[in-house]
Amino acid sequence: MRQWSRSMRAKGKTIGFVPTMGYLHEGHLSLLNEAHKHTQLIVVSVYVNPGQFSPNEDLSTYPSDFYGDIKKLMAVPGGVDVVFHPHNLYDYGNNNCGDDGNGLQKEGMREKDGVVVSCVEDKGLGHETWVRVERLEKGMCGKSRPVFFRGVATVVAKLFNIVEPDVAVFGKKDYQQWRIIRRMVRDLDFAVKVIGSEIVRDSDGLAMSSRNVHLSLEEREQALSINRSLSKAKCAAEKGQVNCRELRNSVIHAIHEAGGKIDYAEIVEQENLESVEEIKSPVVFCIAAWFGKVRLIDNMEISL
Ligand code: PAJ
Repeated sequence: MRQWSRSMRAKGKTIGFVPTMGYLHEGHLSLLNEAHKHTQLIVVSVYVNPGQFSPNEDLSTYPSDFYGDIKKLMAVPGGVDVVFHPHNLYDYGNNNCGDDGNGLQKEGMREKDGVVVSCVEDKGLGHETWVRVERLEKGMCGKSRPVFFRGVATVVAKLFNIVEPDVAVFGKKDYQQWRIIRRMVRDLDFAVKVIGSEIVRDSDGLAMSSRNVHLSLEEREQALSINRSLSKAKCAAEKGQVNCRELRNSVIHAIHEAGGKIDYAEIVEQENLESVEEIKSPVVFCIAAWFGKVRLIDNMEISL
């Protein structure tokens, strides 16, 4: 992969990169359109990253359809130059970095430090270097998914080092993730420009997500409460309701009424993700909620 990137750069080409976990939908494909605006060549990665899943999360049921993904990518206007589909980014061949082969080391590590591990440690893979964006990773999704952003930042750092892109495009659907990657790139001097791309929604307003496929018809209907209540809150804010407690309460109530279980509903500053009590500067209203066994996230930027 790196050889290809370097040979292209030697020819004066610029490389855009869209990392994904596959099971592609219009939301993913919109990132390619965005990437096409900035670079001549496009690399897409399809890799379900065990480093960002806890052992009790949905790694094993994460949907995949690689050949379906390829078909969709082939139909993208402007095309895609490389689909990077690594088998295992944490298998370093001579796995002699702490795994004793019978899982004892791994268990010991868990007990000794009392830390929550990702599927990388759980599988005893010989990887131990992690990128943490310390403050930004703590709130919102970081609260209920303690190893998630560590895993995301690390795999994106690995992918950047392998693909060596000029530009990388991330969806604002995963707002906290996008901000974390931007901060990582700034703090660690990656030579990559990170671009945020707008959320793509189904015609009924539900933000597209690979996980939507697991929703029953009833849960899908319930999940529409997220975008509806966020849109109402945005309208209310634009009409002068700047009290975040009121705005949060109305959204929590609506999602609860519809049958969802709120994980968090927070109004935070767009740049640094600090909670605010009153909307004075550009904010983003971020939601995570469960519908049955499916956890969905969504958000809406509010700039008055
Ligand atoms: P994945 O969930 O597959 O998403 C890949 C990219 O698509 C992310 O940047 C995400 O924000 C974007 N995306 C997903 N749904 C979208 C929508 N409805 N509208 C706009 N963009 C959308 O996010 C990941 O994978 C992983 O954490 C990854 C960054 C690949 C690291 O493993």
